[in-house]
Formats: sequence, C-alpha cells, structure tokens
Amino acid sequence: MQDKPVALVTGANKGIGLQIAKDLAAHGFTVLVGSRSLKNGEEAAKRVGPDARALQLDVTDQASIAAAAERIRSELGRLDVLVNNAGISHAGKPGRPLEEIGESGRPSVASLDEVRAVFETNVVGVIAVTQAMLPLLREAPAARIVNVSSEAGSLTLNADPANPHRPMFGAVYSPSKTALNAVTLAFAIELESTGIKVNAACPGFTGTDLNNFAGTRTVEQGAREPVRLALLDQNGPTGTFSNEVGPLPW
Ligand SMILES: NC(=O)c1ccc[n+]([C@@H]2O[C@H](COP(=O)([O-])OP(=O)(O)OC[C@H]3O[C@@H](n4cnc5c(N)ncnc54)[C@H](OP(=O)(O)O)[C@@H]3O)[C@@H](O)[C@H]2O)c1
Repeated sequence: MQDKPVALVTGANKGIGLQIAKDLAAHGFTVLVGSRSLKNGEEAAKRVGPDARALQLDVTDQASIAAAAERIRSELGRLDVLVNNAGISHAGKPGRPLEEIGESGRPSVASLDEVRAVFETNVVGVIAVTQAMLPLLREAPAARIVNVSSEAGSLTLNADPANPHRPMFGAVYSPSKTALNAVTLAFAIELESTGIKVNAACPGFTGTDLNNFAGTRTVEQGAREPVRLALLDQNGPTGTFSNEVGPLPW
C-alpha cells in the first residue's frame, strides 16, 4: 500500500471532473482519472500531473466498475476519496442547446428511454461505483465520498413559485439529481458510524459540454465545493447538500 492518499474522480476526462482531479492532485493526492474512454482519460491524466493515472471506468458498466476497483486494490492498495462526478443531462446527440434539453425533458413529453439512460448514469451509476469502492474506502483512515449533484434537483427550491429557473424542472435531469441527493443521504446514514463522510455538492451553473457551454461559472469555480467536501477533516459534516455559498435545501 502506498503512503500517499488516493482519490478517484469519475468522469474526470473533461469539465468539472478534470478540474476536481487537478485540484486534488495539487492537494497531494495520487489521482485516478476515471474515464469511460481510456484514451481520453490518458490525455486528461497528462494534464492533471505526474501523479495522475487514467482509469477506464464506465459507471453504467458493472464489469468496468469491478475491474477498476480491482486495479486500484492491486496497483495502489488504497482509496481515500471518491468523487462521483460523472453525469449526463440528456441522452441525445452531443451539443444540444440547453433550451432544447429543457423542452424535451418536460414531463408530458420526456422520452422514457432518455429518463432511464439519465437515471442509469446519474443515480444507479453512483450507487454501483460507491458499492464497488466501499471495501477500499472502509480500510482508509478518513475516507470521503462526494456526489456532484445540482440545485436543479432541490425539491424545496423548485417548489417555490418565485424561483425563475423552475420551468427547467422536468422529468429527466432534475429528478435524477433529486434521487442522487436521496442516495447521498442514504449512504451517509448507513456509514455514519464508520467516520466515512458522504456529502452532495452543487458546482453552480458552469460552462461545460453538459449545458453546451451556456453555464456562466468557470470549471475552477465549479470544482471548489466538491473539492472542499473531499478534504473535510474529522469535524466536518456528513449527509449535507451545499454549494460554495453554504447549505442548500434538499
Ligand atoms: N455544468 C453545470 O452547470 C453543472 C451544474 C450542476 C451540476 N453539474 C454536474 O457536474 C458533473 C460534471 O458535469 P460537467 O458539467 O463537467 O459535464 P461534462 O463536461 O459533460 O462532463 C461529464 C463527464 O461525465 C462523463 N460521463 C458521462 N457518462 C459517463 C459514464 N457512463 N461513465 C463514466 N463517465 C461518464 C463524461 O465522459 P465522456 O467525455 O466520455 O462523455 C464526462 O467526463 C455532472 O454530474 C453534472 O450533473 C454540472
């Protein structure tokens, strides 16, 4: 087992995940750059730094997840931080404008195939990866799990008629993040006695492929809250949902 702590970031080949990987490397972690395409992961790992390595990991593929966990155990022997960052906003062609994603996600017209695909990645994928990595995380001295969620999934914020963004609360992406919040809380409750802290972070509206670069925040800004939660000390909270400004309502 190596002395240096190890972090795994899923979907770290681009966007907010790549920045989280860079920040954790700067904080002294050996970083595993999770990527469903190994080639993209290898290119990204070079950008993260000398102590980063690509890890083929498709969060919807159980064989890929099991192989990734096995590789971490055999090559590094430890895992201290898991950032469940991989996510999709729709299941259509890349580059769809945000307005179109919003329209097609309306509950009255949403494609059931798209609902299933988005939930498979954003919710089931997080449960699957976390389950596979838990044996390693349980062995770490102070493991942290961060789920990259969104305030788009906040039921409280979207139930408020004064919220101008609520027309975007459809049947696809937003409720997948609501479910991810629930899953975050469930893991936090089960793991409370172990000292493993499990929290959900909202990066804010960040310019990435996810929203066809309509987001107004930079990836450096978007990575801040997930990274803060990955670095919590033993007095830090578990079972929370927050952004850079503070706690968010579920
Ligand atoms: N951008 C925002 O405004 C915003 C706001 C709130 C929350 N978030 C959340 O932030 C996270 C990162 O999103 P982003 O904005 O950085 O988007 P992004 O640039 O599109 O990055 C998404 C990442 O997830 C990966 N991914 C998708 N499906 C995967 C799968 N089945 N297995 C493994 N990796 C997969 C993508 O890999 P490929 O390159 O192979 O597609 C990519 O690396 C997501 O969970 C998103 O919901 C984003």
